Amino acid sequence: MTMEPMAELIPMTRELAARAAVIHAAAMADGLGGEAWGAPSLRSLLGTPGTVGWLANDAGLVMARAMAGESEILTIGVHPEYRRQGVAKALLAACYAVLPAMGAERLTLEVAIDNLPAQTLYRAEGFKRVGRRPDYYRRGSARIDALVMARWL
Ligand SMILES: CC(C)(COP(=O)(O)OP(=O)(O)OC[C@H]1O[C@@H](n2cnc3c(N)ncnc32)[C@H](O)[C@@H]1OP(=O)(O)O)[C@@H](O)C(=O)NCCC(=O)NCCS
Repeated sequence: MTMEPMAELIPMTRELAARAAVIHAAAMADGLGGEAWGAPSLRSLLGTPGTVGWLANDAGLVMARAMAGESEILTIGVHPEYRRQGVAKALLAACYAVLPAMGAERLTLEVAIDNLPAQTLYRAEGFKRVGRRPDYYRRGSARIDALVMARWL
């Protein structure tokens, strides 16, 4: 499948939470990126101050939060059928464009140490490793560390 033009990024609102949950479930199905969040979680997150997000039509989504001069990616995921077409790159670009106006100078994120696709994406986007959180993600009954990565905005 081919992604529609990137003009199709849609700012996320509470009304889009159910649609976002379907995309998130598909994006997180391989288990590398974390757990899928249901519509109620996404809806309540969107009611939290400083939280923004975008849908790339039904191909992917990102959510981020700005707070006290910093910002973080809360989640990012792309439907398996739409990967390697620049969707995640476009979603990150929306964050870089908006978060500075919300007072953020730096963008951080966590990524599982075995999530090589996401780590490759983030390195290509200029994120550098700044820390490690032990036992951050679940892998079945086990836990796995996360790398903390950051990029100046
Ligand atoms: C990681 C993820 C968001 C990437 O989404 P995507 O839309 O396919 O990424 P893009 O097409 O924008 O890729 C941009 C660059 O990232 C890197 N990249 C992305 N996926 C990659 C992969 N599977 N292997 C190697 N590099 C990859 C490449 O450098 C790529 O550029 P290129 O295609 O020109 O080589 C997607 O694979 C995903 O949803 N994974 C499951 C959820 C997840 O892990 N989320 C992140 C949690 S921290």
